[in-house]
Amino acid sequence: MQRPGPFSTLYGRVLAPLPGRAGGAASGGGGNSWGVPGSHVQLPGRSQFGAGSTSTGAREANSVCPGPSAMSKAEEAKKLAGRAAVENHVRNNQVLGIGSGSTIVHAVQRIAERVKQENLNLVCIPTSFQFTHPSPSLQDSHILARQLILQYGLTLSDLDRHPEIDLAIDGADEVDADLNLIKGGGGCLTQEKIVAGNASRFIVIADFRKDSKNLGDQWHKGIPIEVIPMACVPVSRTVTQKFGGVIELRMAVNKAGPVVTDNGNFILDWKFDRVHKWSEVNTAIKMIPGVVDTGLFINMAERVYFGMQDGSVNMREKPF
Ligand code: 5RP
Repeated sequence: MQRPGPFSTLYGRVLAPLPGRAGGAASGGGGNSWGVPGSHVQLPGRSQFGAGSTSTGAREANSVCPGPSAMSKAEEAKKLAGRAAVENHVRNNQVLGIGSGSTIVHAVQRIAERVKQENLNLVCIPTSFQFTHPSPSLQDSHILARQLILQYGLTLSDLDRHPEIDLAIDGADEVDADLNLIKGGGGCLTQEKIVAGNASRFIVIADFRKDSKNLGDQWHKGIPIEVIPMACVPVSRTVTQKFGGVIELRMAVNKAGPVVTDNGNFILDWKFDRVHKWSEVNTAIKMIPGVVDTGLFINMAERVYFGMQDGSVNMREKPF
């Protein structure tokens, strides 16, 4: 359970649901709202898909895996999206940005398969050290993004050695009609934005539940804002005074006190109460002293692959 802290007492009012939204908001607590009972994301050594799967496409991948009875529709959709992105965009001799979350695991699995099958020479830059999976089935386990790369035998690097990334692949918490994203449900938004921002191509993978017309239609946990700890109260006041809504300090689940990011900062979840001009709001929030970055990814995604409930993959592309 969330433990109210000093800041959540000040700013942690329960947000009234927006018109047309189902349900109210709940505090992030280091995870996101897409916990899927029965979902499984397997790390090597705990294979659910069968060792050495040789499928080459999303459709084919579907055919060699347990059906929806063994794997939830959402988890299957994540897998379809992840594999489709890898099929379509990963090429030999690339520097890859590897996102955080549960969806990216499927992409990394497919990357590892292709490295073996095609002897690809790839270098991977992680977007997080640690990601706590929200699924109840993995409540106590931690998927380490950096660890994921290592566990799959991929080549780990960093922006010091490889400052130019060819392709970044990452998940998202929500995608709007213009391919603007909310990210940071797992608290990794700053490193994710650094990696995506230094990539020639940024491709997003998601399941059907993340597809929205407007930000906030599906994702009710707000926009994460990473802040320097001493700035939590002033940033909260400034954001709500300027733009409305309510702000909650994200509290840890298995630790007393706030979530501390990989960068040693706190996360404020801003539960906005209306649709904004996100580009302007993002710039304004970033100008507030103490803000490190926001989970708004504006005009960054080039393509989004959505795994669908019927086993297909929908691709949406932004015209540039
Ligand atoms: C972490 C993120 C993730 O990409 C986002 O939360 C999606 O996660 P998942 O793939 O588990 O749904 O932004 O900071």
